[in-house]
Amino acid sequence: MGWRERFEEPVAGVAARSRGAQWARAALTRITTPLLPDDYLHLANPLWSARELRGKVVSVTPESEDSATIRIRPGWGFSLDYTPGQYVGIGVLVEGRWTWRSYSLTSAPGAERAGRSGGAPGAERAGRSGGAPGAERAGAAPERDRTISITVKAMPEGFLSSHLVNGLQPGTVVRLAAPRGEFVLPDPLPSKILFATAGSGITPIISMLRMIRHRGQHADIRLVHSTPAPEALIFGDELAAMAADGIIDLHVQYTRTDGKLTAERLAELVPDWHERATWACGPSGFLDVLHAMFDDAGVAGRLHIERFALERGAVGAEGGTVTFGRSAKTAETDGATTLLEAGESAGVIMPFGCRMGICQSCVVMLDKGCVRDLRSGVEHVEGERIQTCVSVAAGDCSLDV
Ligand SMILES: Cc1cc2nc3c(=O)[nH]c(=O)nc-3n(C[C@H](O)[C@H](O)[C@H](O)COP(=O)(O)OP(=O)(O)OC[C@H]3O[C@@H](n4cnc5c(N)ncnc54)[C@H](O)[C@@H]3O)c2cc1C
Ligand code: FES
Repeated sequence: MGWRERFEEPVAGVAARSRGAQWARAALTRITTPLLPDDYLHLANPLWSARELRGKVVSVTPESEDSATIRIRPGWGFSLDYTPGQYVGIGVLVEGRWTWRSYSLTSAPGAERAGRSGGAPGAERAGRSGGAPGAERAGAAPERDRTISITVKAMPEGFLSSHLVNGLQPGTVVRLAAPRGEFVLPDPLPSKILFATAGSGITPIISMLRMIRHRGQHADIRLVHSTPAPEALIFGDELAAMAADGIIDLHVQYTRTDGKLTAERLAELVPDWHERATWACGPSGFLDVLHAMFDDAGVAGRLHIERFALERGAVGAEGGTVTFGRSAKTAETDGATTLLEAGESAGVIMPFGCRMGICQSCVVMLDKGCVRDLRSGVEHVEGERIQTCVSVAAGDCSLDV
């Protein structure tokens, strides 16, 4: 590898979006190896790291009975030039172990600081550097927002989401993976748009809407959002304000009283749905209905879908001992735990992106043994490159990571 490639290679597999920042980070680490500068940087500021992207939690604001918006101030190397609809990886230290999940950004790049967050006023857990929404000095010039936000719904039985919503404290330093994802709007905007969302699936869309509002863009936008009941509605006040301002035409379907949103009901609410460029996000069942609807009408190309959960179509495998060759670590797996999760629990720095089989960032070489793809049941054998985020061990195996 030449000096240029060596310096440009992402450090610890975590790429910064900006090439300049990545180069500087890589150079700083590699010039000083084996005396890594991180310990010294960390003493000066916990957000400075030459090896990984970090951020500090500024505030945690309840949005509904079981969700909260987490505002984070990213440290050095994190590019704020993301595109609404993209997601970030966030790593949090819980019970002595770094746990990673993906979350759509709900902030809009370039927006001014502290817009209407939709959070309940006064309910925010804010750090000293946080600044409550609306707390700026009257008459002060708008300041560019240097923070990002994610909005998390606490999943029953879920490991990290409940901690993020109910236990995360302002001031906590988290790890970040650079924004990525293709679930974004084109530029210029299509003249007729449909956003179809359910539950926490509103998150990538609110970022798009905040950008549209911030830029003063105009389009004929219908938003049909499903949620169980008013107390579960996320961003309710902000969506109502956008509707009042004529930015969107809004329908909220409360499924406990109005029933689930069916294809027939959607066609009734938005008769010209098949003419609209559509972005949809929500639980699998909801997205499957939309997919079938657009497919049957021969307009599947108009539908853009973001899934939050891995579709486990196949049964797991028997599990086994997974060896992470380059890291000289091993993990015992039960056949339902993905190789990515197994590696992370064993303290291996695993490459990853979406964590659900889309982006290919997690691909590594299977050096020995056999693994099974959780979506299709297809088995892969040694010598093949495999996606660790959707694969489980089918017996003892060894990975080149
Ligand atoms: C691109 C992308 C963007 C995303 N954006 C968002 C977002 O904006 N907001 C958001 O809230 N989420 C989002 N997610 C989902 C998020 O990444 C997490 O998957 C989610 O928060 C659940 O994490 P967890 O650790 O709580 O659940 P996990 O522990 O990973 O469990 C996952 C699921 O399994 C269930 N489960 C776990 N253990 C058990 C058990 N013992 N018995 C039965 N069921 C069980 C949980 O209820 C949960 O439904 C996104 C995902 C992706 C891929
Ligand atoms: S992390 Fe995206 S495909 Fe595995």
